Amino acid sequence: MSRILVTGGAGFIGSHTCVALDEAGYEYVVVDDYSNSKPEVINRLNKITNKDIISYDINCCDKDKLRKVFEENDIDAVIHFAGFKAVGESVSIPVDYYRNNLDSLLTVVELMREFKINKLIFSSSATVYGNSKDVPFTEESPLGTCTNPYGWTKWMIEQILTDLAKAYPEMNVVLLRYFNPVGAHKSGLIGEDPQGIPNNLFPNVARAADGRMKELKVFGADYDTPDGTCIRDYIHVCDLAEGHVKALDYLATKNGGRFVFNLGTGHGYSVFEVIKAFSKACGHEVPNVVMPRRPGDIPVCYAGTEKSLRELGFVANRGIDEMCEDTWRWQTNNPNGYDDAIL
Ligand code: WQD
Repeated sequence: MSRILVTGGAGFIGSHTCVALDEAGYEYVVVDDYSNSKPEVINRLNKITNKDIISYDINCCDKDKLRKVFEENDIDAVIHFAGFKAVGESVSIPVDYYRNNLDSLLTVVELMREFKINKLIFSSSATVYGNSKDVPFTEESPLGTCTNPYGWTKWMIEQILTDLAKAYPEMNVVLLRYFNPVGAHKSGLIGEDPQGIPNNLFPNVARAADGRMKELKVFGADYDTPDGTCIRDYIHVCDLAEGHVKALDYLATKNGGRFVFNLGTGHGYSVFEVIKAFSKACGHEVPNVVMPRRPGDIPVCYAGTEKSLRELGFVANRGIDEMCEDTWRWQTNNPNGYDDAIL
């Protein structure tokens, strides 16, 4: 039986994609070095899917070890999530980010070539649009100037894969540009478990809501937006995961090429609107305080979704209330993330 190789499959988006693959009837195998996730995630996936997931504790930069996965499994396609992803951390340790994110991708594609596997989906990001102001960002929008090494690794990997698809016409490459993935699986068994102090809004709102954080710091309320706070296109991680299944189905109809799709809702919410929705979901006001702007933030970012609808048949169905309710369920069931005992 051919399998999908999911690198970084124990991560936030990777684990939710495994559930979506399972529900769509795909067989898959997970590779993860647990540098930014926990082996407990595999136990949770086993519980959700009622199967024993095949998983390997391997760093994708380790070519000899990773080759074993290709030797032991009939891989039909690769979904590559593995990589460091903390924006703030990437500024302080850029060499680690370039080494890890570029090296792991290059190792994966070298082994794909060696084993004549020609379908690859890459976990890219709307961050490649940089700090442009012409929203909504469509796939035809020019790539911008990234504001951090993490963003540049996504930008560089898109370039590497574009050149790869040109050089090898049999390769089928899909670049999925995520907007702001949030939420959690309905079971409350898997969710976002950032290591250390989170960068992102949703984990911080959740921690302010359950008291782990005294109050949410709102980074700026003086932007040129209706309520002064930044606007983002938050997309439920389960919608995002289902977008990967749509991309796999799409690749099955292609004979070579490089394809780019936004995965977003096409709708933006401000920080204050998220706080309001989250307060409704958790049943009490989320304490918050306005602070100075965070360097590198752009006022407005949301997706053009026409191409993903037209070519992938992708639509994000879950709204902001469901994103908040599902995040809150994950947070209350797992106040310490995966360090909590299995439910
Ligand atoms: C959203 C808004 C903050 C935290 C990042 C990455 C991007 C992608 C998604 C992977 C901003 C404000 C945040 C807080 C706040 N990741 N905020 N208080 O910056 O849009 O995108 O995550 O692909 O690559 O750059 O998301 O959640 O960090 O911030 O006020 O404690 O919330 O200023 O306006 P961002 P975010």
